[in-house]
Amino acid sequence: MEITHENYEKLKQEINFHNYQYHVNDAPLISDAEFDHLLIELREMEGVHPEWVSPDSPTMRAGSVISEKFAKVPHPAPVLSLANAFNKDDVRAWFERQVKTDPSLEACAFMLEPKIDGLTVVLRYENGILVQGVTRGDGIIGEDVTLNVRTIKSIPLRIPVKSADIEVPSVLVVRGEVFMFNSDFEKLNEELIANGEQPKLNPRNAAAGSLRQQNSGITAKRPLSIYTYQILYYEGGSIPQTQHERLEYLRELGFPVSDESHYYEDFGSMLKGLDRWTEVRETIDFDIDGVVIKIDDLTRAEALGFVGKDPRGQIALKFPAREVTTVLENIGVNVGRTGVLTPFAMFEPVVCGGVTVSKATLHNFDFIRDRDIRIGDRVLIKRAGDVIPYVIGPITEARKGDEKVFTAPQTCPVCGHKTEHLEGEVAVYCVNASCPAQLIRNVEHYASRGAMEITGLGIKVVEQIVNADLVHDVSDLYILSKEELLSLEGFADKKAENLLEAIEASKQQPLNRLVNALGIRGVGEAMAEMLANNFGSIDGIADAGKETLESIEGIGPNIAQAIVDWFEQDSNKIIVERLKRFGLDPRIEIQPKNMKEDLPLYGLNIVVTGTLQAYSRDGIKALIKENGGKSADSVSKKTDYVVVGDNPGSKAGKAAKLGVPIISEQQLLEMIRR
Ligand code: IVH
Repeated sequence: MEITHENYEKLKQEINFHNYQYHVNDAPLISDAEFDHLLIELREMEGVHPEWVSPDSPTMRAGSVISEKFAKVPHPAPVLSLANAFNKDDVRAWFERQVKTDPSLEACAFMLEPKIDGLTVVLRYENGILVQGVTRGDGIIGEDVTLNVRTIKSIPLRIPVKSADIEVPSVLVVRGEVFMFNSDFEKLNEELIANGEQPKLNPRNAAAGSLRQQNSGITAKRPLSIYTYQILYYEGGSIPQTQHERLEYLRELGFPVSDESHYYEDFGSMLKGLDRWTEVRETIDFDIDGVVIKIDDLTRAEALGFVGKDPRGQIALKFPAREVTTVLENIGVNVGRTGVLTPFAMFEPVVCGGVTVSKATLHNFDFIRDRDIRIGDRVLIKRAGDVIPYVIGPITEARKGDEKVFTAPQTCPVCGHKTEHLEGEVAVYCVNASCPAQLIRNVEHYASRGAMEITGLGIKVVEQIVNADLVHDVSDLYILSKEELLSLEGFADKKAENLLEAIEASKQQPLNRLVNALGIRGVGEAMAEMLANNFGSIDGIADAGKETLESIEGIGPNIAQAIVDWFEQDSNKIIVERLKRFGLDPRIEIQPKNMKEDLPLYGLNIVVTGTLQAYSRDGIKALIKENGGKSADSVSKKTDYVVVGDNPGSKAGKAAKLGVPIISEQQLLEMIRR
């Protein structure tokens, strides 16, 4: 393209338009390479004519300028906040108050918008060009973060983005919320961790840190997004006077606006509309901390005035916070059924996600080390939906210096046996098979739903029988007597009989359940079923050996090793023997389809030559493969058999020369049928 000012302007517009298609509309019209090419062309023009470069040039997004500190900028109108409601009653009471002031509102329409958990930015456009981006600050004066804001790709540098024929006020000041999509946040954290940097605590924290970066080069690398929702101020021209039309107007100018914002005709339908937000919160890819309820008619809404910094015409219905901070008082350690030690956090009770919590998981010891979580730290915890509460990480800024670093225990907290940490594995184990902590969970697992399903043998009863020394391993269940049970608290005739009956009935459970019940590390319901189908009996599995186990689709070396180890341990051999003696030795017919080694042609290299009777060339090759063999095209020393049909080629001769056995199609089929 010839370097003229007109072409330069055209190219600039074109790039800004494609940028909008990509980042706002999610509908790119050209490839990334084509886009890059346009940018290169623009840079070339700017190299020749630096005087042309204006703030709306896409090259200004690059962001590498370091600003010492942010200049203070007064806002053209107060950047207000919102009063909170916590339930529908609060919302009703709010609306009643407004109707009292202005009875005509009785029949007014509303907008419901996501209350995005991000940071307010105020974007100033003069004659359609982005000239300034400012943080909220105290609502009157904010900080100039223009260089950083320009790096956010979904923010238009010039409006309208599309060539649409819309009149834009000479000064337009738009308010929006800068945030990070959850998926972008996760990607960013993966990158930070891979680079050995501390991950960010949550999307909001990541967005905040990125927006207030002194070096806009860093901001440019952060995946920030924006949704706009308010026109704070304008001069010249006119703008729509209802909220739903304003959002539409912002959209038309090229600003990103959330699709989750909806219009409601009246108060009743709006109240109903609030119900969908619990689900919306679970499904959208960004964090929201509530729903903003706005009277749609902005003239009447504004006429209601303010209470302090909160406009009366709008209110936020807040969700219970899912993330809260509290003080980590101690770190406890649980011993699981398979001997895995798992750390958990004990903290000052806090309300999180609507319930009071005082414990949360810490995943594993590596997590504590990687996140540098110390006892005494103020920590951020999260509880969302059905997920059990977990610690996200420490608020390092709140450290006083007396926090204590925690190290993984060298001995089992329950039995005192030395712990083991396998090379390359995250978990720390107690390998003492008779560790009481493991025994209780072992028995509980043995009796559980997907395993032997012994009704009446829940964790409480298991604790009773183990603590009373009645059961030392699962096989002891089958010699429990009524008298013994009656000696336990809460056991009367009926309860004892029922339990004994349920234990007796468990002898009829099929092999897969028994295999699962044994509690071998890595062997859950699905794996147990696979083992049962492939080996047909407990002895079959015990005798299989690592290689055979590994040859089964879905069993990796670690699980194969765990199975071998389990059956090799003397205490487990005794358990299996005793179970058999008590009548627990279920068997099923083997379905060997999963075992490569059992296939009739396993490991054989077979070459076919000549025309066959029953099979085409491709057909016979597939048949060989299905039966575990490999079919090659040429004969070599590695060939095990050459199948010869009518009119064979030179391969038959070569086979004879090398001494490779020659067989007929019929003979091959017999090998398979065997
Ligand atoms: S309206 C007068 N709408 O929530 C206008 N605010 O405490 C008041 N926020 O600081 C704000 N999403 O940063 C509005 N759709 C939305 C919003 C929203 C997020 C933030 C905003 C404000 C805070 C309210």
